[in-house]
Amino acid sequence: MARPLRAAEGVSAEISRNLALELVRVTEAGALASARWMGRGDKNTADGAAVDAMRRALGMIPMDGVVVIGEGEKDEAPMLYIGEKIGTGEPPQVDVAVDPIDGTTLLSKGLPNAISVVAMAAGRGSLYDAKHVHYMHKIATGADAAGSLNIDDPVAVNLQRVARAKRMRVSNLTVVILDRPRHEGLIKEVRDTGARIKLISDGDVAGAVMTAIDGSGLDLLMGIGGSPEAVLAAAALKCLGGEIQCKLYARNPQEREKAEAEGAKFDRVLGIDDLVRSDDVFFAATGVTDGEVLQGVKYHMNWAETESLVTRSRSGTLRRIFARHHWGYKQREWLGQPEEG
Ligand code: FBP
Repeated sequence: MARPLRAAEGVSAEISRNLALELVRVTEAGALASARWMGRGDKNTADGAAVDAMRRALGMIPMDGVVVIGEGEKDEAPMLYIGEKIGTGEPPQVDVAVDPIDGTTLLSKGLPNAISVVAMAAGRGSLYDAKHVHYMHKIATGADAAGSLNIDDPVAVNLQRVARAKRMRVSNLTVVILDRPRHEGLIKEVRDTGARIKLISDGDVAGAVMTAIDGSGLDLLMGIGGSPEAVLAAAALKCLGGEIQCKLYARNPQEREKAEAEGAKFDRVLGIDDLVRSDDVFFAATGVTDGEVLQGVKYHMNWAETESLVTRSRSGTLRRIFARHHWGYKQREWLGQPEEG
């Protein structure tokens, strides 16, 4: 039975088919193609391999899609550029957000938690257009504490409310924060509350998603990270019943001025329904390198293994999919490479 959801004030389109399983093939393709480059210090080639494979897999999905979050503007990205039409062209109309690898540096160094990610939402204009401002302040949590966040409140107040909702002590909460000099103040504020911190070197989509996965041991994500990643995290959290709030962040006055001239509002709180303006949302992620919630790709003689999460907001179903791929077939059919002899 479909789960009752908060109505997003926005796009009311619904998708009659469950495209979730088609979507997971896309992230599997991205992970299979890019994990070959693990630890090889070449993040651009790894990213390019994921882009090619995902573009190919997305093209096979029966949908009339437009890339809203992608590899950048048309002149800087030959594929999966913002505005690119994707899919077979038949209904439904969907907005697509793709991050072929969240954590390209993690992958290039063989570090944990690089994932391949895609989201789609029913209807045009259903995903927030993040191209004007590169970064956002973010606060996110899973279903247990949804409704407890207010990004404008002090850190300690948010932690107290989340702890109360989860029936935990503040000192038992774990907050995920990107390890960046800009977070020095935030890290101090969290430490002052007594809460625990998990600093991550990259990959705040995985960081946000993990707060909504039972058993991850992670309770909140806080700090400034990429705007495209915020939209992807919002899609995942909408499916998983969690919450995210964001505010645009400019790295300097010039960036702020330029974005404001284009209509950006830096004081506005963007809630989950502003980032994803549809109640019919799909999200898939496949592990590229091993992480807390997803195993990375393992290659064997003739086959490869992947682990993925796939979820849809309408049902709230979360599937964990372990797949064994015949490597030669995937190389030929999905990755467009000649089969190895
Ligand atoms: P890429 O893999 O696309 O490089 O992004 C990794 C990432 O860590 C994101 O998860 C995060 O939102 C963003 O970079 C943070 O940006 P910055 O490294 O500039 O602080």
